[in-house]
Amino acid sequence: MAKSSKNIQIAAVAVIAVVAIAAIGIVLMGGLGADDKSALEKIKDQGKLVVGTSAGFPPFEMLNTSAAGGVEGIDMDVAKAIADALDVELEIKNYDDFSVLITALQNGKIDMVIAGMTITDDRNESATFSMPYYKADQALVVLKSNTDILSTADLAGKVVAVNTGTTGQYYIEDNLPDVGEMKPYGTASDTFQALSGNKVDAVIIDSPVAANYISDTNPYKIVETIETNEFYGIAMSKNNSEDLVTEVNKILEDLIDSGEMEKIISKWSQA
Ligand code: ARG
Repeated sequence: MAKSSKNIQIAAVAVIAVVAIAAIGIVLMGGLGADDKSALEKIKDQGKLVVGTSAGFPPFEMLNTSAAGGVEGIDMDVAKAIADALDVELEIKNYDDFSVLITALQNGKIDMVIAGMTITDDRNESATFSMPYYKADQALVVLKSNTDILSTADLAGKVVAVNTGTTGQYYIEDNLPDVGEMKPYGTASDTFQALSGNKVDAVIIDSPVAANYISDTNPYKIVETIETNEFYGIAMSKNNSEDLVTEVNKILEDLIDSGEMEKIISKWSQA
């Protein structure tokens, strides 16, 4: 083979190699580019905000087949206000187990959690929270007919229902070692069903939710409010979400300053 044609062959191989490497590079960069998109850009690009919640937690999230997305309540109005402000559609994903919400967020199944979720140090490790939008405590609830449980001091040996993976459960674990048995339920509404069905002696749950269950026709009463000083926040991914968190905080601030948040809360709270 002539020397010049060999050189041409080598040159051709070199050109192909360079083109191939460049092509691989573009593909890689495209891929990286996609991952590099911020949380806010991703939501804008997909044209929708996917909010995870766990209904059965009135007045924050309640199942209602005739409501948009099948869930309604304070949190869902806040979710809609955020989607509207971002100019995107709202998709609600309801989970029957509150305790899976943070994992769903970490796995990218949802863009944010709006579920009456208390901002805690532990959760701060795996999610970024918005500014607080609601303050709550815990409440001890028993049947109206119950005469022996007057406070948490009377829970020794008793069976207490909690919503799985909530601050009510953590309160018992950290402060009430004498409780006989703690029974966790995926939704808050299931804890009240367990109480009315005499499967448990008491429920420890967020105070606004407990208050929502108290009525002349319901068999429940609140015997103690446990001042845990909790603040609800919207949980977002820790991954490239600075712009989303900033935006959500702005929207929440507007809702609060304009009085709209107050309106939403009183609209869903029992008179
Ligand atoms: N605030 C409590 C917590 O963050 C209870 C929240 C339960 N929310 C619900 N949608 N079930 O642990």
